[in-house]
Amino acid sequence: MGILTSLKLSHLASAPHRFNQNSTLFFLHNSSIFTSPPLCSLRHTKLKALATDSASPISNMVKAIRVHELGGPEVLKWEDVEIGEPGEGEIRVRNKAIGLNFIDIYFRKGVYKAATMPFTPGVALLLYISYFPFSRKNDSFIVNKSTARLLNDFRFSIAGMEAVGEVIAVGPGLTGREVGDIVAYAGGPMGSYSEEQILPANKVVSVPSSISPVIAASVILKGMTAQFLLRRCFKVERGHTILVHAAAGGVGSLLCQWANALGATVIGTVSTKEKATQAKDDGCHHVIIYKEEDFVARVNEITSSNGVDVVYDSVGKDTFQGSLACLKLRGYMVSFGQSSGTPDPVPLSALAPKSLFLTRPSLMQYTTTRDELLETAGEVFANVSSGVLRVHVNHTYPLAQAAQAHAELESRKTSGSVVLIP
Ligand SMILES: NC(=O)c1ccc[n+]([C@@H]2O[C@H](COP(=O)([O-])OP(=O)(O)OC[C@H]3O[C@@H](n4cnc5c(N)ncnc54)[C@H](OP(=O)(O)O)[C@@H]3O)[C@@H](O)[C@H]2O)c1
Repeated sequence: MGILTSLKLSHLASAPHRFNQNSTLFFLHNSSIFTSPPLCSLRHTKLKALATDSASPISNMVKAIRVHELGGPEVLKWEDVEIGEPGEGEIRVRNKAIGLNFIDIYFRKGVYKAATMPFTPGVALLLYISYFPFSRKNDSFIVNKSTARLLNDFRFSIAGMEAVGEVIAVGPGLTGREVGDIVAYAGGPMGSYSEEQILPANKVVSVPSSISPVIAASVILKGMTAQFLLRRCFKVERGHTILVHAAAGGVGSLLCQWANALGATVIGTVSTKEKATQAKDDGCHHVIIYKEEDFVARVNEITSSNGVDVVYDSVGKDTFQGSLACLKLRGYMVSFGQSSGTPDPVPLSALAPKSLFLTRPSLMQYTTTRDELLETAGEVFANVSSGVLRVHVNHTYPLAQAAQAHAELESRKTSGSVVLIP
């Protein structure tokens, strides 16, 4: 065993046969020594990846966007953070592309609340109390075991819930993951607005080689949301008529394409003519510009006063009451977001005249087990590969400019997916 410079390491990548299968490599870079896993656990391609990585060594300091106080986009700060090494069951990932989601805005503004302010990087436990089931006793929040596990994942003050990256280190004893793997993750733990991050290995999924990191990061959280909404929360089938609000948005665009492929008649609402054009291209049979038209009256007209089977409402406050009015008898109101603000409380009696169903679902509760996560992500990637889903990556920003990306998503200037590049 010897100490190799990065120059010698690149020779190694082209001639790995000179080394014993059980060799462990020691890399010397900028006066620091790094070790590799035994060579027998690495494929030739992974070896090449290691050689490349030796030019940019694993350092504990990386750049990330952090939030110290709630507020507008200006609270997103580009800072140095120390992220440490992966522990048992964890991996360290160098992000290649990071998906921006409206939930990032809710956290930044405090719509979804953190328990402690300011958040302390690395040790703060973010209690997402408005999102998880809980009960109260003597001023304490009581949560069940799986919720407690999820809450424990919200450790960082670094924003972001969706990214794709390359595994650059694995924790002790971890099997099933290798340095060089390209992985995606969506949902907890928070902290994807970072050049690198430590993740629980059981929260990531492999990205098929046919799908680029930018596409995968644009679709993993939003596509899994579309999957559980259309296939499990309410099962859309041929013959159904559905209403999708914000039809040209990140989730909305995928909902429309997927529902059309399932054989539903799709009605979409959007705010502008440009967004209407995209929604049409995405398979909306009817597009309503709800800033100019009364969407309830238009849905009545389109459905000959029968109403729709289901409304997928992510807009919340501005659309909620109208959405209930658009439903047919025994229709499903799926309220899955609040981009315009939290809807006013609904009395149970409001559901009675049409025997309506009302649900407020979250992706997290539909991907709690490893099997659910793999099945949901697998269906999304399969639909991307087969062309059922065309991902519109309409906006990309350098990660350092996350504040600008937030401002534009929040002011309805974006359509399709928004991606941050580290
Ligand atoms: N429950 C879950 O598990 C889950 C998971 C993922 C996402 N979501 C929800 O799904 C929604 C869509 O998320 P996304 O990331 O794909 O965002 P997005 O749809 O790309 O952006 C939000 C869109 O909402 C519409 N909107 C209407 N009124 C608005 C207002 N007052 N302010 C801002 N936007 C307004 C805008 O479209 P127009 O200009 O066409 O009106 C805007 O483009 C969000 O509400 C998010 O919370 C929920």
